[in-house]
Amino acid sequence: MKLEFIKREVLKEKPADESKLGFGRIFSDYMLMMKYDEAKGGWYYAAIEPYENLSISPAALVFHYAQECFEGMKAYRTADGEVMMFRPWDNVHRMNISGERLCMAPIPEDFLLQSIYELIKVEKDWIPSSPGTSLYIRPTFIGIDPVIGVKAASQYLLYVILSPVGSYYASGLAPVSIYVENKYVRAVKGGTGYTKCGGNYAASLKAGEVAHERGYSQVLWLDGRENKYIDEVGAMNIMFKVNGEVITPELNGSILAGITRDSIIKLARSMGYKVTERRISMQEIADAAENGTLEEVWGTGTAAVVSPVGELIWEDKVIKVGDGGMGKLTLELYNKLTGIQYGREADEMGWTVKL
Ligand code: PLP
Ligand code: COI
Repeated sequence: MKLEFIKREVLKEKPADESKLGFGRIFSDYMLMMKYDEAKGGWYYAAIEPYENLSISPAALVFHYAQECFEGMKAYRTADGEVMMFRPWDNVHRMNISGERLCMAPIPEDFLLQSIYELIKVEKDWIPSSPGTSLYIRPTFIGIDPVIGVKAASQYLLYVILSPVGSYYASGLAPVSIYVENKYVRAVKGGTGYTKCGGNYAASLKAGEVAHERGYSQVLWLDGRENKYIDEVGAMNIMFKVNGEVITPELNGSILAGITRDSIIKLARSMGYKVTERRISMQEIADAAENGTLEEVWGTGTAAVVSPVGELIWEDKVIKVGDGGMGKLTLELYNKLTGIQYGREADEMGWTVKL
C-alpha cells in the first residue's frame, strides 16, 4: 500500500492567539485516512487528505454497536523549532491491543507510524510553540459495514486528525479536585477497561456530570466489583506519594496502561524513588491522609501530562492532599517529563523521535 497525498486548494487560517487554544476544538488542514475491506484483501487505501466531514451509512456498525477505539498522542515544538514525538510507537501498538479486544482488523503498525510521521511533517506549521502547547494527534478506528446486525465489521476506517492544544484542564497546573465515584462503575473484570474504546467514555459521562454539578473536575473510579480499590481517573492514571514511596494501581485489566504512567514510573525510579504498582484501597489513602503520610497525589496522561490533585472527595469525606498546592515531586516529574518531550533534557530512555 502506498501513501497518497491529496492536496487541498485553500488552507485554513491558523489560530492567531496560542493562549486561547483550549483543548481539541480546532483542527488542521489535513488528516490521514486508511481504509480496510476484507473483500478487497484487507488494507487497500492510505492517503493524507483534506480534513473534511465523513460520508458513511447511517447503518454503519459503529453508530449502533460502538466498534470503535482511539488513541491520543502529541507532537511537540522544541525551543530551536524542531518537531518531536514521544513514544508514538507505543500508542500505535496500544491501538492494536484495543482493536483486538473489539474484534477489529489488525493494524499494520509500522505503516501507520510512518504515515503519522508524514502527516505531521505536512502539518508542522500547525504545531504551536508557546509553553505548554502542542499538536494533539487523534487516531480513530471505526467499523463501518452498513448492516444492522450485531457482528464484527469487515470494513473499517482508520483516520488521524490533528488539533493544536493548550492545557487539558482549564485550571492549568493548579491542583484539581477529584470526586471518588461510589455508585457508578467504569470497568469490570473481563470488560474493556484496559482499552481505549469510546464506550468506556460514554459509560463515564453520568458520573462526570454528577461530579461537575458538585464542583469537582474529574471522577476517580473504584473497582467495579467491591467499590473499594482505586482504578484510575477519567482521562488519566493516578499516583500517590505516601511516606516517601510512590504507589500506583497495578495494571489489573480494568485500567488503561498509560504511556505517561509507564514513563513516570521509570523516571521516578531513575530519581531514586521506590515505586510500587499494587492494589490500593481508598481506605488506605484516607488513612494516610489522616495520619499525615499522604504527601502528594497526581494524575498522568498525554492530555493531562502530570496534573496535581489537591483534594479527593470520598463518601462526603474531604481528603486534603499536602497543603493543597503542587507537590515537590509532582513538579519535578512534570519538569523532567516535559523537559524530555520538548527537547530541553537529554532523552536517556530513547523515548523521543525527531521528525
Ligand atoms: N486513563 C484513561 C482512561 C485515559 O483516557 C488516558 C489518556 O489517554 C490515560 C489513562 C493516560 O494514558 P496515556 O498516558 O497513555 O495518555
Ligand atoms: C489523552 O489522550 O490523554 C486522553 O485522555 C484522551 C482524552 C482527552 C479523553
